[in-house]
Amino acid sequence: MPSSDIADQARPPLRVVVCGGGDDAGPLLGPLMPEAVAAGHGGGTDDGGGRSISTARRITVVDASAAHVTAPMIDGAAGADLAILRVDARKGVIESTRRDAHLLSLLGIRHVVLAVDGMDLVDGAEAPFDAIVDDFRAFAIDLGIADIVEIPVSSTRGDNIATRSGRMAWYTGPSLIECLESANADRAGAEAAKTAAPSASADQFEATIVWVDAAPLLRGRSYRMKIGAHTANATVAPIKYRVNVNTLEHVAAGKLDRDDIGVCDIELDRPVPFAPYAENHDLGRFALIDRMTSETVGIGLIRFVLRRASNLHWQAFDVDRRLRASQKAQRPCVLWFTGLSGAGKSTIANLVDRKLNAEGRHTYVLDGDNVRKGLNKDLGFTAADRVENIRRIAEVAALMADAGLIVLTAFISPFRDERAMARARLAEGEFVEVFVDTPLALAEARDVKGLYRKARRGELANFTGIDSPYEPPLSPELRIDSTTESPEAAAERIVDELRRRGFLTT
Ligand code: ADX
Repeated sequence: MPSSDIADQARPPLRVVVCGGGDDAGPLLGPLMPEAVAAGHGGGTDDGGGRSISTARRITVVDASAAHVTAPMIDGAAGADLAILRVDARKGVIESTRRDAHLLSLLGIRHVVLAVDGMDLVDGAEAPFDAIVDDFRAFAIDLGIADIVEIPVSSTRGDNIATRSGRMAWYTGPSLIECLESANADRAGAEAAKTAAPSASADQFEATIVWVDAAPLLRGRSYRMKIGAHTANATVAPIKYRVNVNTLEHVAAGKLDRDDIGVCDIELDRPVPFAPYAENHDLGRFALIDRMTSETVGIGLIRFVLRRASNLHWQAFDVDRRLRASQKAQRPCVLWFTGLSGAGKSTIANLVDRKLNAEGRHTYVLDGDNVRKGLNKDLGFTAADRVENIRRIAEVAALMADAGLIVLTAFISPFRDERAMARARLAEGEFVEVFVDTPLALAEARDVKGLYRKARRGELANFTGIDSPYEPPLSPELRIDSTTESPEAAAERIVDELRRRGFLTT
């Protein structure tokens, strides 16, 4: 075996990602892969998810064409040496082309083959091809994509896929496979920088987020973060901007929808080893995972670490939470009431509070209407504002529990995610979720504040139960059925439960 062949064998295969965004690149793969096989590149396989097809030897092809951006697509593209970006000769550069090009540039892919497909449908003419080339080049320059090869192809006729086609005599460049072959031959240790050592551990980053879930990213919501072999709880600080993929402009945004690309700060509950993505593709890339569904909802690329956290140190004081609690002869906890507006949360909380005080317990009640007049007066009732409302309440409740108090909170707290976050903020067993289960019809019939009537008349938007969702708890510590149980009886049962759980010692 000649020594150049041996060197060739030692090198990992050229990784090629094929994308076409909303414009299905599938038609290109069919013709591409059999040719790759025929050209001696080994057999093609499918990863089972239908997303990646790889040839056994010198070239691996990952299919990243889909209607929406997905996590496996980004993972596949993150390791690619080169991308084939397919555009339809009849449609030219469209929004999804620009989004894909932007993603490729974020992922650090600098070599792009623009495959202008469907040339048979424009009669193999040079003018439409040239127009697309000009359009794409102007855009790619701003993205820093340095190396672009444009090839006119027809995947249905196989033109310029394996070999150059005689049908487009004006085109004198390589065929697609020739182009991959030469990219494979040219590449010399270009992969070196991608897996450098982590620079440090940190718990705050600025990151680019690509959102892949149908439900939007909300500021302040907490997600599981998986980075390398580590996981942590991550909270998304306000979104700094969203990128308009057509113009690359930065626009203000309160949320990220599916396929959106934005930049925001991420805060973790503990430090993890990391590196900026530009330096390390593995330790610079993370997944955000929904706590409830365990689905990946976003992919992040670390831009840089935020130093402000490393200048803050948790100060330990001598009078600790145990001392504060024992002085009060109780174990602190948070009684978290949840339910519709008008369900009876505040009424029951008030009765529980009176009973506890009557036996000398130290308590505090945090109530929606009251807290929204002060601490949270900047917040309304959009989903994003409710997330932030509950995040702040959970923090305040946890601080009060730290001070040794039995805390009662009465907020609709409509989302399971935020109630889980509040629970996670406390020690095991200290969060007691009380579901005040009142059917919408009953809460609406009572309508103590007249708000349901207003909402039905269309004078109050985003009203829980009417045009904003309520997600009932799946396994609350206590459930109050207000159709059968009086507030007085419910309060008695709650105090009994606190005693049973050992919170009312002595
Ligand atoms: S939460 O959803 O963010 O937890 P919170 O408990 O703080 O809500 O506030 C709910 C109270 O605000 C309700 O009891 C009601 O009096 C009032 N309110 C005003 N507008 C709305 C609305 N659109 N949806 C629900 N409650 C509202």
